[in-house]
Amino acid sequence: MKILGTGSALPKMTLTNDMLTQYFDTSDAWISSRTGIKQRQVMSDEHLEDLAAEASRHALENAGLTATDLDFIICSNVLDEFISPPLGCRVQSLIGAQCPSINMNGACAGFIFALNTAEAYIKSGIAKHILVLAAEMPTRMVDWTERGTAVLFGDGAGAMVVGEGSQLKAVHLATKSAIDCLYQKQFINSTPFDIQEANKKSALQMEGREVFKLAVSSAMKDIQALMTEFKLESKDIQHYILHQANTRILDSICLNLKEDKSKFHQNIQRTGNTSSASIPILMDELNREGKLKEGDRLILSAFGAGFSTGTCLLQW
Ligand code: ACO
Repeated sequence: MKILGTGSALPKMTLTNDMLTQYFDTSDAWISSRTGIKQRQVMSDEHLEDLAAEASRHALENAGLTATDLDFIICSNVLDEFISPPLGCRVQSLIGAQCPSINMNGACAGFIFALNTAEAYIKSGIAKHILVLAAEMPTRMVDWTERGTAVLFGDGAGAMVVGEGSQLKAVHLATKSAIDCLYQKQFINSTPFDIQEANKKSALQMEGREVFKLAVSSAMKDIQALMTEFKLESKDIQHYILHQANTRILDSICLNLKEDKSKFHQNIQRTGNTSSASIPILMDELNREGKLKEGDRLILSAFGAGFSTGTCLLQW
């Protein structure tokens, strides 16, 4: 599989750390030092499908293709205004594609799971051109009176058009059951037959320190496994493009791998944590800035609720 084009879209409203002090007791110093985040883009009057469609159009344009060239759409998404039809179907309609579309929810690792599915579809000949996108609005998942989680997130969408090629060398996916440290339940209607009380609406629940440890240990394990499998050393990898969860998580993985910090790309300072959209958004920025050179090896690694992780090796 090969990446033919990338695209991204962020909401227009910028929310700085200083602006957050109007909503709860916090400070730019606390947020910056604990997370690296200085500001994030937050959805106001926008709809997620419009951001997702914008990112998709950019990816198609970058690939030199049109929506009717697509054979499949795979959309990674956690929260959406609609439960049904899924986001990918509405994006299909907005961009004028005629192909089937499915949604995948692999939490923050969802984009890597979606890429893996796309590769299987391409390898098997089911599809030739696939739009793989991730669109997320985690700022609508948190309780805005809870400073511990509300400061972490931003909204956005990232997309790639993929096709036949040999750029993707390997993907490692894993799920280790660890549900209590990161989850959100949704409201479900009750019936006359409920044995237990139906779920009430709830916000994202997170054990920050546990998530930190799991993120660092699982990303390290996955990255090292790929490097061993392909007999790669530090000098063979030019770019690490990791889920933008938190600067301290990224710094810790970088330090443990004894890697050069400049290879660990970050945009979390501007975007916050955009869940599964973070990797394709960052990839699009690097691609458009011309930072990915032919032959460069890239490691993409994402981790999130489940606890699910996805890591892959690409050669540009
Ligand atoms: N502003 C100011 N003070 C705060 C804030 C805030 N926004 N949030 C918490 N505090 C306070 C707490 O109340 C606490 O005060 P106390 O000591 O008086 O009780 C103090 O800061 C320390 O709180 P902790 O929650 O223990 O802070 P910690 O040092 O663990 O940092 C953080 C919290 C940043 C969430 C950290 O645990 C972390 O980085 N975890 C990783 C989680 C993560 O990145 N999640 C992203 C989403 S999941 C994903 O994408 C996979």
